[in-house]
Amino acid sequence: MAISDIISRQYEIAQGNAANIPGLPKFRTYAMCNLRGGIGKTTLSFNLSYLADNLLAVDTCPQGNLSYFYDKNYYASNQTNVRDMILPYLVPGLGKATRVAAFIGATNQYFTEKNNYYIPSSDELYLLPSQLITAINQTSGLQYPQREQALNSILYSLKTEIERELKQNSLDKCIIDTSPFFAGATQLAWYAADALVVPVRTDQQSIKSLELLISTLTNPQSEYRKYLFENDMNVPKIQMVVLTHCGWSTIAGARNVPNQQTKVYLGKVYDILSKHRSLLSTENPDNHLFMLDDFLGSGRISSVEAKPIELLKEGETKTIDRTRVIVNRSVTKCKHQLQYISKQLW
Ligand SMILES: Nc1ncnc2c1ncn2[C@@H]1O[C@H](COP(=O)(O)OP(=O)(O)O)[C@@H](O)[C@H]1O
Ligand SMILES: [Mg+2]
Repeated sequence: MAISDIISRQYEIAQGNAANIPGLPKFRTYAMCNLRGGIGKTTLSFNLSYLADNLLAVDTCPQGNLSYFYDKNYYASNQTNVRDMILPYLVPGLGKATRVAAFIGATNQYFTEKNNYYIPSSDELYLLPSQLITAINQTSGLQYPQREQALNSILYSLKTEIERELKQNSLDKCIIDTSPFFAGATQLAWYAADALVVPVRTDQQSIKSLELLISTLTNPQSEYRKYLFENDMNVPKIQMVVLTHCGWSTIAGARNVPNQQTKVYLGKVYDILSKHRSLLSTENPDNHLFMLDDFLGSGRISSVEAKPIELLKEGETKTIDRTRVIVNRSVTKCKHQLQYISKQLW
């Protein structure tokens, strides 16, 4: 019943004329997360960052793919980065970083009209998990209330720094791209976020990682929960699950019918959300499940050119790895889907 509602809403979204979800609360800072790679976290972060204005994008994934979208020289550059912001909270004596955010329009031509900034990642984030745990363990020698203060300063270090950067640059929206591995900067991103956007790809591994994400949020013994004090209710809500790489039936006459694989995973995600209503920002699963078509060639061209899908034109072509790739017809649909997702966030 509810799934068919989601599918018919999806049809309206694809046409560009769906009404906003009534009563959906809006948040300032979202973490794009799920504990699996290749599901669309970075692609979604990039495209959503283009659709908003006055936004700060924060890259906490050591692979730095989002940073590379914003600056093709990222891997050769040596900018102040997210690790420089966090480290002074973990290692005593280091000076705090200021004005870390870089204007995206300076390095990505498609963003020149947007008042959007980003905080680059660092490949040295691979070392952060052990530095974080060492710092957390060092607080255990302290007494109340110093221990609580010291621990909060560590756990909320990224949050504090994001607040400062938002204020310094007069920005009012933030999206944090995360890595598939929870420990380290991704963990700090969860503490920094008001709410989560969770991409789930139409495959079984993604369902497993959604279940892992939910148990990390709910289990008091999880790496996420175990350091929080009992009265700390700061558990981010799930604003939306975005089912990525969706496909539609190609049977003649079928309109608005998801293919079998998409239908199966839509059902699985819906069941999981129904069992965990209290984690959702409105407690009604119907309000939190959205679909995004497989971008196909549009996704490849968008990645290679670091050009938001919003700016691609149907029929545009590009030779990638010696094959001709085309912006397929469904790009208009994908634009509408991304616009709709953006409107349900801010
Ligand atoms: N609907 C979709 N949403 C997100 N990514 C998609 C979609 N369809 C195709 N893709 C492709 O899937 C890949 C997702 O990779 P990426 O965003 O880097 O994943 P992650 O950051 O989760 O590791 C990209 O190559 C992207 O172009
Ligand atoms: Mg990524």
